[in-house]
Parts: sequence; C-alpha cells; structure tokens
Amino acid sequence: MPPKLATPDPTHAARHARSSPPPLMPTGRRMPTRAETAARARAAAPIPLTLGVNGEDLHCEVDPRTTLLDCLRDHLGLTGTKKGCDHGQCGACTVHINGRRTNACLVLAACHQGDEITTIEGLGTPEALHPLQEAFVEYDGYQCGYCTAGQIMSAEALMREPCGPADADVREAMSGNICRCGAYSNIVAAIQHVRGPRKD
Ligand code: FES
Ligand code: FES
Repeated sequence: MPPKLATPDPTHAARHARSSPPPLMPTGRRMPTRAETAARARAAAPIPLTLGVNGEDLHCEVDPRTTLLDCLRDHLGLTGTKKGCDHGQCGACTVHINGRRTNACLVLAACHQGDEITTIEGLGTPEALHPLQEAFVEYDGYQCGYCTAGQIMSAEALMREPCGPADADVREAMSGNICRCGAYSNIVAAIQHVRGPRKD
C-alpha cells in the first residue's frame, strides 16, 4: 500500500503567510509593502518647476521624480530629444547642461532649475541649420534618424572637448551614442568635416 500523504494544515499555512517577512529583491533589499508604496506615491506630489531651455524660461508642474528627458518631452513639448533605452546606454537623449553633454534620462528635472539647458531645438532652425546639421545631411549621417538628435548634441559638445584629430578619436569620443542603423562611418565623416582638416 502506498504511504499516506500528510494533509497540509490550512490554518498553519495561513499563519505562516501572515508572519513571513516580505520577499527580498535581487539587490538584497526587501520589497516595499503596499502601505509603503502608497505613502511614497503620496509624497511625490507635483512641484512647480522653471527650467531655462534654449534661452527661454519654461514653466511646468512635475512629479519630483521626473527625469529631465520626460520633462522636456512630456511636459514642455520638446520632443526632438529622443528616448531610446531610458537607462543611460544609448545616448539618444543627449542634451547640454551648462554646455556639457548629458544623458537627460539619467538626471532629474528638479535638480536643474537655474541651469542652462540646450536641446536639439535650440541648435539650429530649418531655415538656418547648425553646421553639424548641415554636415549630417551632406554626409548622410543617418538612416531612420532616431539617434540623430543625440548624435548631433554629442558632436557639438565634442567640439569643445579634448579629442584627438583621428577618426578613431572621434569614434571613441562618440562611443556613448549608439546608432542601430549603423551609420557610424558617415556620422564620423560629418563630424570630421565640421572639425576641419586633420592636424596629425
Ligand atoms: S535614452 Fe538616455 S541614454 Fe538611452
Ligand atoms: S540613424 Fe537609425 S538609429 Fe541611427
């Protein structure tokens, strides 16, 4: 005769479920309880924000946890800056903060009141393109165009950075900007055109 299986005690299981601590996340920290999550959501009431973007003071109200990228796109209507990975890995969201290139998906909008923010909309106009925009057109530095705003913002900042004269130096300096279409050679050619003749 097969051995009899013990019948689980439902009251014991329920007691155990009630008393066991919340599970751990992969980071080793425990999962927040529902009450904690609700309390955090309440704590993030919208705050008024004024950002200096492309030489204008723009006002909005955002959850303090809003990234600069989401603030620009969703609250200020500046959709030229693109969201690729939202994790600081593709460079599609590159903007300038006080002249330095920055991944807008990695910084909070609320931390940049008083800073000078430049987006692709502030670089040139359809009637008067920035030299880099002209060069990207001339050298075919894009295919789908999704990465292009980030590439151009990065390249514009690169002009003020210590970067060697060779194509390899430009590739290295632009390595934070991914182009899924693989337009890299043309992007480098466009940037080198604007940088001028090689001095090496
Ligand atoms: S969207 Fe910011 S780096 Fe990819
Ligand atoms: S042109 Fe398509 S991702 Fe770069």
